[in-house]
Amino acid sequence: MAHSILSVADLSTEDMNHIFSRSLKLKSQLKQHESVHVLENKVAGLLFEKPSTRTRTSFQTAVLRLGGQAVYLPSSELQLSRGEPIKDTARILGSYLDTIIARVYSHQTVTDLARYSDVPVFNGLSDLEHPTQIVCDLFTVKEVKKDLEGLTLAFIGDGNNVSNSLLLGTALTGMNMNLACPEGHDPDKAILERAKRIANETGSKLQIVRNPEEAAKDADVLYTDVWVSMGEEKEREERLKTFQGYQINANLLALAAKDAVVMHCLPAHRGLEITDDVIEGDQSIVWEQGENKLYGAIGLLDFFLGGK
Ligand code: CP
Ligand code: NVA
Repeated sequence: MAHSILSVADLSTEDMNHIFSRSLKLKSQLKQHESVHVLENKVAGLLFEKPSTRTRTSFQTAVLRLGGQAVYLPSSELQLSRGEPIKDTARILGSYLDTIIARVYSHQTVTDLARYSDVPVFNGLSDLEHPTQIVCDLFTVKEVKKDLEGLTLAFIGDGNNVSNSLLLGTALTGMNMNLACPEGHDPDKAILERAKRIANETGSKLQIVRNPEEAAKDADVLYTDVWVSMGEEKEREERLKTFQGYQINANLLALAAKDAVVMHCLPAHRGLEITDDVIEGDQSIVWEQGENKLYGAIGLLDFFLGGK
């Protein structure tokens, strides 16, 4: 099976550092309008079951900027929507394409895509993880803070795909993570255990707490995500009640380190998980974070397809 990124745990600490330095180098080359041909003659397919603004456009643009071609494959327009099995789809797509970037409901779908296509698969979000997001985000933190090791990231909100991947990413890079979530919305148990095993080796400290203030105290990075993820729309009313208080606002930010930065993977819901003044404020690096989805995707494509 080709080397894929289905989980952050598919990367080592060394791989992460390599991707960060390639993202940085290629970002500077592309900003100076130098041409980069790492993906020349390569064709990427973007198989998406869910909407996307950033992941889709950043990966498509990344492939084009690196000299390759990208084909958008919304699952609603494939025979998948009429019941063709994913393994059959994967075998055929793998025989045409050099890589697949996929956004899916069930994590099993990206696992099957990787298994049967035999080309590198990038998980562009599943119900379990959002690994490419977290590589881009930690690249952004590194750009801003220079060194990741020893920094504390406080995640306020849902123990969802983004926070699962953040647990693994912070553990791999030697960062500490405080995750504040309501009872019943903890991160995935197996992922937390895996992240804790990695943390034991890198010296990172991970903890789950209920109180957002406790998580945010002295943190270097405050991070949040939506209260209702794609696919959870039926739980919306109940979630809006449960997550009251799990908001990044000026009071919470005042508890963090003086030079703390605020992150959100977007799309954001002002007045729910984050307030307008904070996302628009001086400590927000949300727009740099969004822009770096492109340069993180470039580093990832270079790592998996460009020849290491
Ligand atoms: N952060 C993120 O994955 O955004 P999109 O849903 O727009 O891709
Ligand atoms: N947790 C969110 C992330 C969106 C980028 C979702 O899955 O919808």
